[in-house]
Amino acid sequence: MSLAIETEKLVKIYGNKKTMVKALNGIDMKVPKASVFGLFGPNGSGKTTLISILVGLLLPTSGSARVLGFDAARDSVEIRRRVSLLPEGFGFYDHMTALENLVFLATLDGVPPDQREERALEALEKVGLKDRANAKVSTFSRGMRQRLGVAQALLKDPELLIFDEPTVGIDPEGAAEFRNLVRRMNREGRTILLSTHLLYEVGMICTHAAIIREGRLLVQGSVDELYRSVREAKGFRYEIRVKPGSEMPLQEIRSMPGVIEITQRDNHVTVLTRNDIGGSLFSLVTRNPYKDIVESLTPIEPSWEEIYRFYQEEDKK
Ligand SMILES: Nc1ncnc2c1ncn2[C@@H]1O[C@H](COP(=O)(O)OP(=O)(O)OP(=O)(O)O)[C@@H](O)[C@H]1O
Ligand SMILES: [Mg+2]
Repeated sequence: MSLAIETEKLVKIYGNKKTMVKALNGIDMKVPKASVFGLFGPNGSGKTTLISILVGLLLPTSGSARVLGFDAARDSVEIRRRVSLLPEGFGFYDHMTALENLVFLATLDGVPPDQREERALEALEKVGLKDRANAKVSTFSRGMRQRLGVAQALLKDPELLIFDEPTVGIDPEGAAEFRNLVRRMNREGRTILLSTHLLYEVGMICTHAAIIREGRLLVQGSVDELYRSVREAKGFRYEIRVKPGSEMPLQEIRSMPGVIEITQRDNHVTVLTRNDIGGSLFSLVTRNPYKDIVESLTPIEPSWEEIYRFYQEEDKK
C-alpha cells in the first residue's frame, strides 16, 4: 500500500514547563494514497495541530511526518507545492470578487502570471461558481464561501487536499454539496484528508478513518475494517423485512450458531449474533417457506456513535 502521509511517534508540546500542553502524544498515522481519510476527534483533541505539522506550519517537538515522500519539517516547500490546505475558518477578502480573490491566492501559490486567471476560472467552474466569478465575496452565502474555499484548494492542482473541519457552520445542503466535491476530487485520483468532529460525516464519505482523542489515535484503518472489528466484538446484526401480514417462523434462525437475540417489530425481524451468519441467513431466506415471506435481508452496520464508544472503552481497558 502506497502512503500519502505517514507519521511516526509524533509529539507536540505547546508552552513552557509551567504551561505545558501535550497536544500530540505519539501519533503514528498512515493515510493511503487516493483515500478519503477522516480524522475524527472532539474539540481540543489535536486535529489542527497535527494538520499544521503535516504542511510544515508547525514543527513537532519530536517524531517525524512524511507527506508524499517528503519530510514535513525539512521539505515544506516541496510539500506546499503539492498539497492544499483549507484551514479552519478560512476567510476571503469580502470587498474583492471571487475571481480577484483566487487570482491573488494563485499568486501566493506561485502560479505563473499568465496562468492565474485561467486556473482560477477552472477552479470556479469545478465548484459551480463560474457564473459568480465577478461578484463580490460579501454577497456570498456561507455555503458559497466554502465552495470558494475548495476552489482555492484546487488552484495548484494538488495531489493531496487537507480540509480542517470543512463543514462547520454549513447547512445540510451545503455539506452534501461539499461531500460531492470531495468524491469528485477523489475520483480524479487525489488523496483527501479531512478533520471533523461530526461522526456521521466519516461514514458518509470516508474510505478510511482514524479516531484521535487527547493527542492519541485510538484506532485507524479502512472503514470496513473498523466496522468489522466492532461487529466481531459487539455482535453482527441483520434485519429481515417481512411482507406485511405474513408471519415469519423463527425456530430455524434461533438454532443457528451464535444467535444472541431475535427481536420482532411490525414487519421487521432483527437478529443479533456472535458470528457472521450472513451466508446461512441468505440461503435460508431464499428457500421455502421463507422466500414468499421475506422482502429483504440486510446486514446492519454499527453506527459511528457505537464505533466511537467501542474504541473509547477499548482504550480504557
Ligand atoms: N498555540 C497553542 N498554544 C498552546 N496550546 C495550544 C495551542 N494550539 C492548540 N493548543 C492546545 O492543544 C490542544 C489541541 O488543540 P488543537 O487545536 O490541535 O485541537 P483540535 O482537535 O483542532 O480542536 P478543535 O476541534 O476545537 O478545532 C488543545 O488542548 C489546545 O488547547
Ligand atoms: Mg481544530
